[in-house]
Amino acid sequence: MLKPEEMIIGRRNFMKATAAIPAVAAYAYSASQAKPLEVAIIGTGNEGRVLLGAASPASIQVRAMCDLRPDHRILGEHVIKQKWEFSSERVYKDVDKMLADGGFEAVLIATPLHTHAPLTLKCLEAGKHVLCEKTMAYTVDECDRMIAAAEKSGLILAIGHQRHANPLYQTAKGWMKQGTDGIFGEVHHIRSLWHRNNDWRNMPMWDSEVLAEKWAESDNAKKKANLLFDLPKIQEGISPKEFEAMPSSEKIALWFKLMQMKDPDFDYAAHGYETPDQMANWRLYSKFSHGLMSELGSHQIDVCNWMWESAPETVAAGGGLFHWKDERDVFDHAFAIFRYPGDKVMTFSSITTNDFDGYYDQIMGTKGTVYITGETQAMLFKTGVEKTTEVDVEKGKKGEANLTSHGSMGGKAKGSGLDEVDPYAPYGEELTMFAEAVRKNDPSLVGCDGHAAKKAAIAVFATNEAIRSNSIQPCEAAKFLAMKNA
Ligand SMILES: NC(=O)c1ccc[n+]([C@@H]2O[C@H](COP(=O)([O-])OP(=O)(O)OC[C@H]3O[C@@H](n4cnc5c(N)ncnc54)[C@H](O)[C@@H]3O)[C@@H](O)[C@H]2O)c1
Repeated sequence: MLKPEEMIIGRRNFMKATAAIPAVAAYAYSASQAKPLEVAIIGTGNEGRVLLGAASPASIQVRAMCDLRPDHRILGEHVIKQKWEFSSERVYKDVDKMLADGGFEAVLIATPLHTHAPLTLKCLEAGKHVLCEKTMAYTVDECDRMIAAAEKSGLILAIGHQRHANPLYQTAKGWMKQGTDGIFGEVHHIRSLWHRNNDWRNMPMWDSEVLAEKWAESDNAKKKANLLFDLPKIQEGISPKEFEAMPSSEKIALWFKLMQMKDPDFDYAAHGYETPDQMANWRLYSKFSHGLMSELGSHQIDVCNWMWESAPETVAAGGGLFHWKDERDVFDHAFAIFRYPGDKVMTFSSITTNDFDGYYDQIMGTKGTVYITGETQAMLFKTGVEKTTEVDVEKGKKGEANLTSHGSMGGKAKGSGLDEVDPYAPYGEELTMFAEAVRKNDPSLVGCDGHAAKKAAIAVFATNEAIRSNSIQPCEAAKFLAMKNA
């Protein structure tokens, strides 16, 4: 664990070194000055709304949206209307209907993992360019079909590994390209982790003022702008206190009943979910997700693949479902060692019972280490950690280093261009790069293409298999072609 003053040194080093290389300015929408890309979005849950919130109207115009969930339709429409002229008539429950109505060139897909391939293929068949969220698909076979369909049709396919659009990672990539004479020297090791200390559940936004405005029954609820007051009424005889004490999955079941009352067409079972919790918390169920490795690890494996311009050959892994004894069946702890060609090793861990170090990537070379944390801050340490107290720190009230809003990552060094990256900006850049690729008809301009994303996906599948079988697994496509279950 670094001291705050060491972090400041590291951040200052990073910024100084950045100044010595060509600027990694915000990606310019140069094709542009051309017209913005007209898109529809499928899935306006958490990530869909992040994409919408980050998109720049200079490069992206949202023309239609679709979601199965009534609450997410309301929330998605609300975010869209903050930024674009948008008619409620373009809010859909059904993808086929939206595609038939058309009026857009491309589709952003932010739905659960098991739906990525079927939805992407449908959109490509309809002649739309696609940016689909990560992990690319549930099986290798699906990845292959997505790539083939895009290449056959000449349409652009991008996958949402947004670190490719993050200036901190772009800077590190620039230094990797300098080779052994550069800042890093020889890089034999990348260390990544993503640690949390929570149940990793998605709870509905029942305290949303936007939803309360549409759905609250009573004046009281409206005043409080909180649908929690209505929820206990859905199940006769239950008090707010009893509701509070219910297990998460039961609270979600009540929320789904409320949604069915608001929209009788809403039928989660028609989409393969056996319970409301399976739909709300799909990433906890192996039928829909590959758990920690697909939801978190794929991003960091993709970074290593990008930095080293290769993919892991083998993975040794351990882990399991150690702590969260609820309905879930995906691992809650995953530890992996990836062996790359040319004497390189990445280590990765993702746990849900301790968040001590948050999440980061450390690229560790013989001459320097880059430490990128939370996708927002980067430090550079030459030949290991430089320990010094000679730093220029903004003083906090009590004279201690003034920590930034991101908490654990040190005080503010002065005069920086990359002092702190807005955590949402890379999603906007990723969309702009996608728009640029479409306008220039050049698939190489996307942040992460299907081929790169497929490599990360294969490593995800191999890691889960290594955990399950307590063995070393080859990261080979053939083995995971038609895999049915994580
Ligand atoms: N790039 C990132 O950093 C990042 C971060 C979080 C999530 N994600 C990815 O984004 C995707 C969505 O994750 P989330 O956390 O937003 O999940 P979520 O459950 O909050 O939202 C998913 C939405 O998709 C909708 N949906 C599912 N199937 C549909 C269909 N056939 N038609 C229309 N709508 C459908 C659901 O109703 C839901 O509203 C996942 O692939 C996830 O891995 C990426």
